[in-house]
Amino acid sequence: MTAAGTGSALVREATRRLQNAGVPDAARDARHLFSFATGVDCSRLTLTLPEVVCDDVAAIFDALIVRRIAREPVSHLTGRRAFYGREFKVTADVLDPRPDTETLVEVALRSHFTKMIDLGTGSGCILVTLLAEVPQSIGFGTDLSGAALDVARENAETHGVLDRATFVCADWMESTKGSFDLIVSNPPYIAVDEMVGLSPEVANWEPHMALTDGADGLTHYRTIIKQAVSHLMPDGRLIFEIGPTQGQAVADLMRAAQLQHVTVIPDIDGRDRVVSAQMIGFKPERRA
Ligand SMILES: C[S@@+](CC[C@H](N)C(=O)[O-])C[C@H]1O[C@@H](n2cnc3c(N)ncnc32)[C@H](O)[C@@H]1O
Repeated sequence: MTAAGTGSALVREATRRLQNAGVPDAARDARHLFSFATGVDCSRLTLTLPEVVCDDVAAIFDALIVRRIAREPVSHLTGRRAFYGREFKVTADVLDPRPDTETLVEVALRSHFTKMIDLGTGSGCILVTLLAEVPQSIGFGTDLSGAALDVARENAETHGVLDRATFVCADWMESTKGSFDLIVSNPPYIAVDEMVGLSPEVANWEPHMALTDGADGLTHYRTIIKQAVSHLMPDGRLIFEIGPTQGQAVADLMRAAQLQHVTVIPDIDGRDRVVSAQMIGFKPERRA
């Protein structure tokens, strides 16, 4: 085994290369990827960085930095991403779970539910989290991507909820039978003319069908609302994640479908992130 220098020197050099390539948060990514390459938790890196690193590990770290310079997302390089306190498997077939989507989870958890469906489940981050948080519930996850459903199934197994989850390859609710007291969805909502503003990490590496409807960003809300109203139990809720400028438009679509208690909910930064509505037959929410 030959030595490639200390961890500190390697991370410093990697940070410089990432910065030169225009990668945002270069120092954070370099540490994160060094932690992944060495198998040492980020919280313990300060202790191990002064140690000399062997050539094999240095080569693994270098390969990760080269991929990051090509703007491959860190979650694709490490194969995982934290969401609502749990680690999720992530591949190029699924949208990288976003902190924004935790707002939808929080809103869903404010009221009682036992049978839910997550439309466009992707990695399964919403469905698996809700099943894990509400142990008496069962849930369905649909997606048009079979590869995404494989990832969601694996995440359900990892988090011990696979026996309460059913995954279906379907176009939204087209083949759905039965009713639900909770329908959730984070559909592709980026308007086609907003795609040019996306970072390379999103535009070049995340699945196109997870991002945009190829139109005004509202196509999937229109379809889902139309389908969902006949699958909501009395008092059942329909909850969407939205883009920050879509609150009014999605709320109007829900009201037009005779849904009640339509509410636009901001995230902790004050940006509209969720719209929630209820089928007629209202029960007060358990938590504010
Ligand atoms: C924005 S991603 C959300 C993924 C995941 N629920 C999350 O919040 O991270 C949208 C998902 O909808 C899926 N999708 C796109 N069109 C669909 C359709 N017509 N029917 C079902 N799923 C669809 C995509 O494959 C993708 O997984």
